[in-house]
Amino acid sequence: MEFVFDKEKNKEKIESFKMFIQDHKDTPGVLMPVLQEAQEVFGYLPREIMQLISRSLKIPMAEIYGVATFYSQFSFIPKGKNIISVCLGTACYVKGAQAILEEIEAVLGIKAGNTTPDLKFSIDSTRCVGDCSLAPVIVINEDVYAKVTKNKVKELIEKYRNEV
Ligand code: FES
Repeated sequence: MEFVFDKEKNKEKIESFKMFIQDHKDTPGVLMPVLQEAQEVFGYLPREIMQLISRSLKIPMAEIYGVATFYSQFSFIPKGKNIISVCLGTACYVKGAQAILEEIEAVLGIKAGNTTPDLKFSIDSTRCVGDCSLAPVIVINEDVYAKVTKNKVKELIEKYRNEV
């Protein structure tokens, strides 16, 4: 799905980002630091910001997309307020992590790597987080949950959904 970038709400960020571009535009290899700054400031690379970069640096959009898609540090969709990471390392996988991931996807109605339309949740998968004896493990923001079962998933998500 396409997330709408709220220009009005991001007005100040856009202005300071424009200044960043202005200050760096004559630096060789400027595209990478500009993209990193955009990712840092906006949390992802909205299409409108990519167009701004393209106009300001006189670099074609195709080239900007080419660089941005090459590096995994860049994202084209915003991250949700809560990030659920499912460990798919061997120990967790053997203990049913895939089924846990599928249950989370079903409850939230999105696939791993995506964000819910209300921006409350993103789902990620991760490699071993170092707590194999507690498999299967999921991490929500900074909180680690051990020996998670499919039946626990809904309850856990509701806990974060209702947090302000
Ligand atoms: S494999 Fe999941 S914590 Fe090690």
